[in-house]
Amino acid sequence: MKKFTLVLLLAFSLPVFAEPVMTDGYAEKTPEATLKAIQKASHKKFPEVKGDGFVNGSLNFNPASVESNKYWTARMNDSFDQPEGYGKSEAEGKKLWETPFANGKKFADCFGHGGKGAANDFPKVDPTTGKVLTFENALNKCLTDNGEKALDYSDMKTMGALSVYARHLSDGMRINIQVKTDKELAAFNRGKEIFYGRTGSADQACAHCHIQHAGDTARTEELSPVIGQAAHFPVYRLDKGTDGLKLVSLQERYKGCQKSTGVEKPIKEGSDASNDLEYFHTYISNGMPLSTGVMRK
Ligand code: HEC
Repeated sequence: MKKFTLVLLLAFSLPVFAEPVMTDGYAEKTPEATLKAIQKASHKKFPEVKGDGFVNGSLNFNPASVESNKYWTARMNDSFDQPEGYGKSEAEGKKLWETPFANGKKFADCFGHGGKGAANDFPKVDPTTGKVLTFENALNKCLTDNGEKALDYSDMKTMGALSVYARHLSDGMRINIQVKTDKELAAFNRGKEIFYGRTGSADQACAHCHIQHAGDTARTEELSPVIGQAAHFPVYRLDKGTDGLKLVSLQERYKGCQKSTGVEKPIKEGSDASNDLEYFHTYISNGMPLSTGVMRK
């Protein structure tokens, strides 16, 4: 009875916008407790997925997907088969990363250690503005600080290729997102609200599919658990139009998931909302090894 009154009171005190999905991690107040609750629920639900195995996402649940993934990964690595795909993006990215700017400096000068370990602690929060800074924002900042033009976040031929190459340099290193200061906490909570908030005509939230229903099949696909999702982007996906592969950024994937659940105006790549979501979403993969540029259906 006591519980019931409390729930009613809570319901009346909620603002008018859509109710969040009250699944694992939502009720926890701190980032640490949120992460622990999601990890605990995921390990309990998927005892067969051990440790770093979560970076394999939906591949953990369907042997047929694993076979198809192997086949496409082999094709992806064949530059004759995929002249426009994998090899080209990697080569373009390497060229962009290594070509000196007009002032003689290079990307590596902005990040230290030749770029190794540069990507696995992004996104960060700018201590002055409180805005989230993604790794791609940092790549653009490096350009503009050196008098060069920034790249378009949705242009996978330039920003996508640069990002996949530069993130590769940190492959194997563990995601380590910090949430300590008040500004970081505020950004984390903004991202968390998006992740658990229902939207669109289907009235669904990211948390519905990637926590509550993780492992279940939606249409023809097994839903990946949120843990590990942020570790392997950008990914190569099948391009239904060309039977080839195309590079897809994490934020484009957010947009795709929102579109498929009837969100009229999905959050745009490079926007503050998308960056906030990426900050929360990547924190939930803390401890997972970066494994960039893999193939996903
Ligand atoms: C109606 C269910 C549904 C909702 C809601 C949904 N997604 Fe997805 N999502 C999918 C499906 C299906 C896939 C493809 C299978 C998979 O890898 O999980 C997918 C894939 C992904 C992937 C790629 C996983 C990988 O390993 O490559 C990410 C990242 C992702 N979703 C994030 C989100 C975020 C963030 C939201 C909220 C803005 C969201 N999704 C909302 C169904 C959903």
